[in-house]
Amino acid sequence: MRLTLRFVLPLTIVLGLLAYAAVPLVDRLIQRWSVRDLDARARLIATSVRAPLGAMMASGSSDGVQLLFNSLTHDERLVAMGYCASPDSPPIATSLLPSDMKCELLRGHRRGGSEVVAGVQGLLHVAIEPLPIGTDSAGALLVVQDMGYIQSRGAETRRYLFVAFVWLSVVVSFITVVVAQLSWRGWVAGMKALLRGEGLLREPVNPGRREAPEFRPIARDLARLIREFESEARERDETQITWSPETLRRMLHGELQGEDVIVVSNREPYLHEQCGGRIETRRPASGLVTALEPIMRACGGTWIAHGSGSADRAVVDAHDAIVLPPEQPAYRLRRVWLTPDEEAGYYYGFANEGLWPLCHAAHIRPIFRSADYAHYVAVNRRFAEAVVAEAKTSAPIVLVQDYHFALLPKMVREALPGATIITFWHIPWPNPEAFAICPWREDLLAGLLGSSILGFHVQSHCNNFVASVDDTIEARVDREAFTVSHGGKLTAVRRYPISIAWPPPPEMVAVPVPDCRRQVREESGIAAGVTIGIGVDRLDYTKGILERFRAVERLLELNPDWIGRVTYIQIAAPSRTVIEEYQHHEYQVRAHAARINAQFGRDGWVPIILKVSHHEPRDVYRYYRGADFCFVGSLHDGMNLVAKEFVAARDDDRGVLILSQFTGAARELPEALAVNPYDADQCAAALQVALTMHPSEQRDRMRLMRALVAEFNVYRWAGRMLLDAALMRRRGRVLERAPFVAPAGVGSSYVRAV
Ligand code: G6P
Repeated sequence: MRLTLRFVLPLTIVLGLLAYAAVPLVDRLIQRWSVRDLDARARLIATSVRAPLGAMMASGSSDGVQLLFNSLTHDERLVAMGYCASPDSPPIATSLLPSDMKCELLRGHRRGGSEVVAGVQGLLHVAIEPLPIGTDSAGALLVVQDMGYIQSRGAETRRYLFVAFVWLSVVVSFITVVVAQLSWRGWVAGMKALLRGEGLLREPVNPGRREAPEFRPIARDLARLIREFESEARERDETQITWSPETLRRMLHGELQGEDVIVVSNREPYLHEQCGGRIETRRPASGLVTALEPIMRACGGTWIAHGSGSADRAVVDAHDAIVLPPEQPAYRLRRVWLTPDEEAGYYYGFANEGLWPLCHAAHIRPIFRSADYAHYVAVNRRFAEAVVAEAKTSAPIVLVQDYHFALLPKMVREALPGATIITFWHIPWPNPEAFAICPWREDLLAGLLGSSILGFHVQSHCNNFVASVDDTIEARVDREAFTVSHGGKLTAVRRYPISIAWPPPPEMVAVPVPDCRRQVREESGIAAGVTIGIGVDRLDYTKGILERFRAVERLLELNPDWIGRVTYIQIAAPSRTVIEEYQHHEYQVRAHAARINAQFGRDGWVPIILKVSHHEPRDVYRYYRGADFCFVGSLHDGMNLVAKEFVAARDDDRGVLILSQFTGAARELPEALAVNPYDADQCAAALQVALTMHPSEQRDRMRLMRALVAEFNVYRWAGRMLLDAALMRRRGRVLERAPFVAPAGVGSSYVRAV
């Protein structure tokens, strides 16, 4: 109905206006034609009466003339006739010749002519036809004809015109509505699809849907223009964008047209654990999960991960999936099950006894066993199959996470050549000499080079990766564009510093800071007036927990004034506990804390409180907010999100961050007190500075750090990668349309990577 009105109403109005303008025009035309007819008729009458009139005038029979004229004016349209011998003589005329029509008229029409005059009963046509007879050389015939019939003919024509326009409107409207109804849906859908880039360069996604081929060229140009405009605007505005879940969602639906997003990681965002008769959910301690979970909440999609919770199987559906988060489902978690042997070989063995120490400069020897590697290959294949099974299209966007899946990108690429694979390596990449000790280094590199984009936190890890490729396999490395060409595919190696959600979830900062301080003191038995430091880590040898204990010890040695006045709380989440190195590390950590506490502790006060247990994020935030300083002491860390979480937690602009210079975060947070965790004296000095820092300086530093984390939040991290993926996909489409093989070393780096 709306569509009908949209077409018919304007059409009717236009036709009405046309009719309105046409009526006077038609009237004028009819009058002109009629006058021409009447002129001709008058001439005909004059010709036919010339002979009898001449004879009658010659014989002086004016009665005969009268009779002749009377007989002629029986015609209903011939009103009157008259003959003037000269302009001065009275006319010999029929009785109906208007009295004001005198022979003087001849003066103005010596050569004849006609006029339209208004008579008593309407318009009259008066023709003056020169008719010289005998000696009356100026004689002329007056022929007066009625024009009333012309007016009635005009009215009739108007009526016809009106009816014709009405019919025309009805017919044209009907045809328009029918055509529009038939085409509108198809064209609109076609336009939409074309603007999305579908159907221009490839088959429509929905082959049953009709597209209007006549719109293609326009739509193609329009789509290109819109995209160019959008991407220009994006580049221009990117620095001004405030990245939020909404920005990310909009970007995903705009730039990536709501594409299918699949995340693959080993660690799942929620574990379901059997606790007595109940099933509880637990959030694992993992930087990867901290970063990715808000992204999945914002974008939806499918997250494929190892189902490692004791009750994980009990809560999934027939497809091994569950929607999360429990309180507000936003994405799907598809769990993959591993046997204890697979988990031992792939996760504990190759990933955590081999790759983890290989990539972290923590002076722990990697252990490489071929049996572990065989499991690693098999599990990578299993997850790759899960990706293929979960993909809704042949070109999904796959976000591969971390060192557990170095082989998976190539496997997915082989099964889904159109996929855009973004792999993010959350841990450092070692230098080429260190990497060279891995027996399967070529396979790992080839596997990773199945990715379209390979991301690291910092540039030096990108450099190390490219250098490892250069040293290890046959590949073309473009150091300017930072791409690697291997097996006919291009991989862009990029820096994407990871971050956390900003603003932090409201429930994390809901408890006021003074309440947090009080609760932390009560829980840990810390007296008022004692300054509190906090460290939050997995119990992992790369985190430098021992080094931090040594720093506290050194502080107390160098400045005994602090004895009894400062306590450092270390939250240490048990991690990878079946690995011998981790067991040994836990033993060392406990022993160190006990030794230092025994040496310095007094009257119920201890310098170190070690809490080896899992803490849910809310509890962790309570500690961040209740502490005076936070100490991040990693020996080597890709980024370290604890540093950023501490900053996010301090909406009171207080607290000091001591941060290892060997974390990625140290490059982004220069307002933190940077330390070398191996240098106990320097760390003790930093502790001294933190303990004595004036609140105004704490505020100034904290504000700067908060501004940075707010701006470079995790939505930006994901957004940057997805924008690059969108660009690659666009370029890939252009190249499909007009393939051009650039000479070696020339042309855009990304293009053939898709
Ligand atoms: C690091 C790794 C993550 C891992 C996390 C926790 O951050 O980069 O991939 O999830 O540690 O370790 P876990 O072995 O418990 O998953």
